[in-house]
Amino acid sequence: MKRGFFITLEGGEGSGKSTQGKRLADHFRSRGRDVVLTREPGGTPQGEALRALLVRGDTGTWSPASEAMLMSAAREVHVRTVIAPAIAAGALVISDRFMDSTRVYQGHAGGVPADVIAALERAAVGDCVPDLTLIFDLSAEEGLARATSRGSDCEDRFERKGRDFHDKLRDGFHAIALAEPHRCVLIDAAQDLDAVQAAVLKAVEARLHG
Ligand SMILES: Nc1ncnc2c1ncn2[C@@H]1O[C@H](COP(=O)(O)OP(=O)(O)OP(=O)(O)O)[C@@H](O)[C@H]1O
Ligand SMILES: [Mg+2]
Repeated sequence: MKRGFFITLEGGEGSGKSTQGKRLADHFRSRGRDVVLTREPGGTPQGEALRALLVRGDTGTWSPASEAMLMSAAREVHVRTVIAPAIAAGALVISDRFMDSTRVYQGHAGGVPADVIAALERAAVGDCVPDLTLIFDLSAEEGLARATSRGSDCEDRFERKGRDFHDKLRDGFHAIALAEPHRCVLIDAAQDLDAVQAAVLKAVEARLHG
């Protein structure tokens, strides 16, 4: 069976992942491509239930280690029941956050040791590694301002973690982009919506056809 293509969207809060994910999905759907747009944590009934537990409450409701385990449990179900079957059926799969968010939020910024993160990643992801990861790069300040002005009724538990935490997120994503240049493309998310979309499409087209 023909194999599809797996894209993940990563970056800090308010960096434009969901906005650009929708645009990317629309772009390829309008060209007749089978697209699955999904998100983490979530993407399955089990994952959405875990998401609801993870995003509410006080910042200290879960330790980074318990977050990593819950995120990984949700990811294992997501990969096994949604992502891998869709790729096998030839779809373009776009996941709004995936394994790099765990590496960065719970690992780099949360302090969970890298070997623990790596073991959880092997259990959850296996060989279902993204073909392309777009990392939306934006200052913590601007991202949080955007997320706040989005006007969601309740800012979530991750948005409420301090400025220092969000600066570490950006560092962590930079380190991944540097370490895995074949998989990752850093997108300057401070540009206007259309310019960001153009950068996204350029990166995707280059990998899809290159
Ligand atoms: N390039 C841009 N310029 C200005 N505003 C933007 C841009 N991209 C997104 N926004 C706005 O910023 C807000 C956050 O965008 P979005 O929800 O796509 O970010 P996100 O990365 O999905 O955030 P989260 O991590 O919280 O899910 C939205 O109100 C969106 O309309
Ligand atoms: Mg989003």
